Amino acid sequence: MTVRSRIKQALAEGRPGEEYLLKGWARTVRSGKGVTFISLNDGSTLAGIQVVAEPALANYPQLAALGTGSAIAVTGLLQESPAAGQTLELQALSVEVIGEADQDYPMQKKRHSFEYLRTIAHMRLRSNTFGAVFRVRSSLAQEVHRFFGERGFLNVHTPIITANDCEGAGELFRVTTLDLAHPPLSEGAVDFSDDFFGRATGLTVSGQLEGELFAQAFSDIYTFGPTFRAENSNTARHAAEFWMIEPEMAFANLADDADLAEAFLKRLCIHALNSCEEDMQFFNTQIDTGLISRIESVANASFARMEYGEAIERLKKAPVSFQFPVEWGLDLQSEHERYLTEQVIGAPVFILNYPKGIKAFYMRENEDGKTVAAMDLLVPKVGEIIGGSQREERLDRLTARMLEGGIDPAGLSWYLDSRRWGSTPHAGFGLGFERLLMYLTGMENIRDVIPFPRTPRHAEF
Ligand code: 4AD
Ligand code: MG
Repeated sequence: MTVRSRIKQALAEGRPGEEYLLKGWARTVRSGKGVTFISLNDGSTLAGIQVVAEPALANYPQLAALGTGSAIAVTGLLQESPAAGQTLELQALSVEVIGEADQDYPMQKKRHSFEYLRTIAHMRLRSNTFGAVFRVRSSLAQEVHRFFGERGFLNVHTPIITANDCEGAGELFRVTTLDLAHPPLSEGAVDFSDDFFGRATGLTVSGQLEGELFAQAFSDIYTFGPTFRAENSNTARHAAEFWMIEPEMAFANLADDADLAEAFLKRLCIHALNSCEEDMQFFNTQIDTGLISRIESVANASFARMEYGEAIERLKKAPVSFQFPVEWGLDLQSEHERYLTEQVIGAPVFILNYPKGIKAFYMRENEDGKTVAAMDLLVPKVGEIIGGSQREERLDRLTARMLEGGIDPAGLSWYLDSRRWGSTPHAGFGLGFERLLMYLTGMENIRDVIPFPRTPRHAEF
């Protein structure tokens, strides 16, 4: 009995004359005179393999009429292929039809729009583009763990249910077991003391606060988990559920933080180029010509660093009219971010030291009293890909910042304790994993780089 091989492995071994058992799904079936070609794909590679079936096979009529999408198992001999664009094919000795697909199969040979494919998110996985996206996604996720593992960072699983709103933006999804038709009320408001956790809870917007506590014991840590934001922005770059990688380093400042972010992003660029070659070539020809050369140049570039104040000056002088106002003290909008990285720098750029009024309470106040030690990394086409900061390690300043922002310090006393005993300067950042994937694949909509996207009014599948 031959053991099943994955197509990728069979092609890599490349031993013509050897017998292989391959299993997968028919991408296309072409029946000609006295021969049927089945393009077989098992998800391990983009190209798959061509199966050659001849009339001598007992079930040939069934194979000649096989529907696209059918699952089959093929035992056959690997042989050099005369067809263009492939070196090897499988000459079938026997083909077993495991799962038939009829002509209602929603994925046909023609090219479908991404919008259409989003309506069949459960089936789009069998298309070339989504095959490539999710292979690259998986490979990069593993590289993230290798990168931090090699540097001695502890991997922490921070909680998904939480009672804190780390970013303070009020975008928490509520988690409750209260009867929504008859919630317990106290003075007109819902009384969460009767709720499952005895308090109001939600889905985490960031693992940072818990990550900081781990950094204050393990020095260097990272989280890589799902984050949730009830942000009602229907853009191509926002998802309500996305994955974030958040490293945190004790005994580190903003410059160390930017250095780590730069090394991290470059490493992921190099990994995509070297370890996902076939899929990256596909993106480069089908999705975004110039992708590979852009990523190559980023992998070798030294990232620019620009003060927020300078960014505002540059934007004010820009010979373009923006939709949103540009003024010191206002946040940068996507159009500003893209102008800075695409037009001013033409490469990734860190914007450093933002006004404190537009940034979260935990960021360290600078000596000028006006700015905080924040950094955003902006990249062409995507805009903000990383947000991070040096954290406020001084208890008195942190408490004051919370009070200014209307956050009750009592609710975060466990967090403040990390500043009470053995506090250290520390810093970290968050990389949006889907933004990274958009950047590395050229895919323009975040819905097309996440397995089952959650966006306002969409949580099907
Ligand atoms: O800038 P953000 O909000 O930073 C934090 O959450 C910090 N706690 C991170 C830290 O310092 N540990 O988010 C970080 C990144 C953004 O730069 C962006 O790439 C991504 O997360 N992101 C989103 N990605 C997809 N959909 C959304 N709605 C996103 N919001 C943020
Ligand atoms: Mg941000």
